[in-house]
Amino acid sequence: MDLSVLKNRFFELYHNKQIAPQLYFAPGRINLIGEHTDYNGGFVLPCAIQFGTYLLIRKTEDQMIRLASMNFPEKMDIPSTGSLQKQEVRWFNYPLGVMAQLEENGKKMTGMELLFFGDIPNGAGLSSSASIEVVTAYAINDLLNLGFELVDLVKFSQRAEHEFAGVMCGIMDQFAVAMGKEDHAVFLNSKTLQYKQVPVVLEGYDLVIANTNKQRGLADSKYNERVAECQLALAFLSGETGIDSLSEMPFLQFFKMQDQIPDELIRRRARHVISENQRVLSSVAALQKNDITGFGALMNASHESLRDNYEVTGFELDTLVEEAWGIRGVIGARMTGAGFGGCTINLVMKEHSASFIQKAGEGYFQKTGLKADFYIAKISNGARKLSTES
Ligand code: GLA
Repeated sequence: MDLSVLKNRFFELYHNKQIAPQLYFAPGRINLIGEHTDYNGGFVLPCAIQFGTYLLIRKTEDQMIRLASMNFPEKMDIPSTGSLQKQEVRWFNYPLGVMAQLEENGKKMTGMELLFFGDIPNGAGLSSSASIEVVTAYAINDLLNLGFELVDLVKFSQRAEHEFAGVMCGIMDQFAVAMGKEDHAVFLNSKTLQYKQVPVVLEGYDLVIANTNKQRGLADSKYNERVAECQLALAFLSGETGIDSLSEMPFLQFFKMQDQIPDELIRRRARHVISENQRVLSSVAALQKNDITGFGALMNASHESLRDNYEVTGFELDTLVEEAWGIRGVIGARMTGAGFGGCTINLVMKEHSASFIQKAGEGYFQKTGLKADFYIAKISNGARKLSTES
């Protein structure tokens, strides 16, 4: 990112060059494995990536909050003294939702000027929204000395998504964006919020992100539908066992009890969540032993379950993953994130990365008419303050 362009835009919008703004950054994320487990009390294994959201911000004396972005045309000025409301313009809801949470937790907002710039491919399922939320929470907490812990900021950001964006997401994205660590995955128990940074040593392999460039049309409502289906599955299974989240049930027990769920579709949803949770544990064990092939096989199994049991893949994601499975040097491939479009991740032997990108791109284009974009993931640090000198 060219900081001078961001700074110039900041002063063009807000004038007064006497007071320097501060610069903050929060990354996007990929999830290595553990999809749709986080709102079922399960394990996840995401990593922060090199792309993310930059925020230039400063306090003002005039009791106005001013929002602008280099990515979206809409700007907004609102009094910092009034109550913060949900807006029609979607992107406003991420920073405003976070500010509303900070207020709900006893802190008054003041006048502020904010300018965002994100380099996460838009709508790609790489958590651009969590990245905006967390960078806002992190920056305001620091700027106004609010004294919240990072994990509080993660929870506020998740609640902003629920209350202002209307997506009943789990906590994985905001957690990874805040707590990510270079060359590590965040192994998170989404129920207790206990976590461990697990080294991801991929010597000789690349983790290639492939964007289907399929617009994620009704993704939010379908996501909420899956959340509700899991609640229904839990209602059938909890009676006898007393479990209060699907992930608590070992797969063997589910296998024996599954007929208690009368609806075949709901049974498949539960099968995905419970088996996926086990795959996260097996993946952590594989990565710890440097068993890259074993981890690749788990990635493939995860995709199959998301396709067949959870039904969140769709033609484009399936095509891109199935193309990858047939290409030399690919150890594993799966969709990442919520699904319904967005990105796949591919574990590829380094010497085959370039030919993988070419072949997967061609095959995908032939079958879908869409051009995929490819990026080599760099597993990076979470939210932080950056220097404005450059
Ligand atoms: C989205 C949500 C996460 C998680 C994933 C699926 O990214 O924000 O909480 O549920 O989908 O694993």
